[in-house]
Amino acid sequence: MQQPLRIAPSILSADFARLGEEIQAIDAAGADYIHVDVMDGHFVPNLTIGPLVVKAARPYSKLPFDVHLMIAPADPYITAFADAGADIITVHAEAGAHLHRSLQAIKATGRKCGVSIVPSTPAQALAHVMDMVDLVLVMSVNPGFGGQSFISSQLQKIQEIRSMIDATGRLIDLEVDGGINPQTARQVRAAGADVLVAGSAVFSGNPEDYASNISALR
Ligand code: DX5
Ligand code: ZN
Repeated sequence: MQQPLRIAPSILSADFARLGEEIQAIDAAGADYIHVDVMDGHFVPNLTIGPLVVKAARPYSKLPFDVHLMIAPADPYITAFADAGADIITVHAEAGAHLHRSLQAIKATGRKCGVSIVPSTPAQALAHVMDMVDLVLVMSVNPGFGGQSFISSQLQKIQEIRSMIDATGRLIDLEVDGGINPQTARQVRAAGADVLVAGSAVFSGNPEDYASNISALR
């Protein structure tokens, strides 16, 4: 069943020249998770950060680092992100041929494991890993950039995954990522989401605005 709502600001929309301060600011503004978007310019058409930056950012907040790996292959980097301080490590079902093995590798580090699917991937792609994941991340934009528009066809998929999670009887976070603002947040929560990722909606304005930006999503 649905769990208490959590907000995971995506640092992709933060000022990277002041990343530590920005993480402190969203922590103080009421964030529940710090969502870290890792992109390799191969799996997605953008290039962001690696384990070194996660390690540098780690001391700036005690909140869970929710690390979203938009990279292929992911397996060679899982240990490095765990060692850098990731608390949740999420890989894409589309990033390789052996999703079950990637999730096993994450679990072997002792961190929580997540699986993410892009808008064109059906919920059924998750069927045989629902017994091992701690989090399912539904992309409501095509991954790679912040500030994109919400893809409303994903609402039906979120409802479907909500039912799949409830059928397991396990505590699995249903997280949704992309185009989340006060309007779409309501729709996504009603469809069954537990955790909302938001970049541009949180980091708009100045740091003094972050708390009200986060509250507007709840
Ligand atoms: C997109 C990233 C998202 C993105 C969300 O590939 O995975 O986390 O930063 O940004 P907004 O909330 O601006 O759509
Ligand atoms: Zn993300």
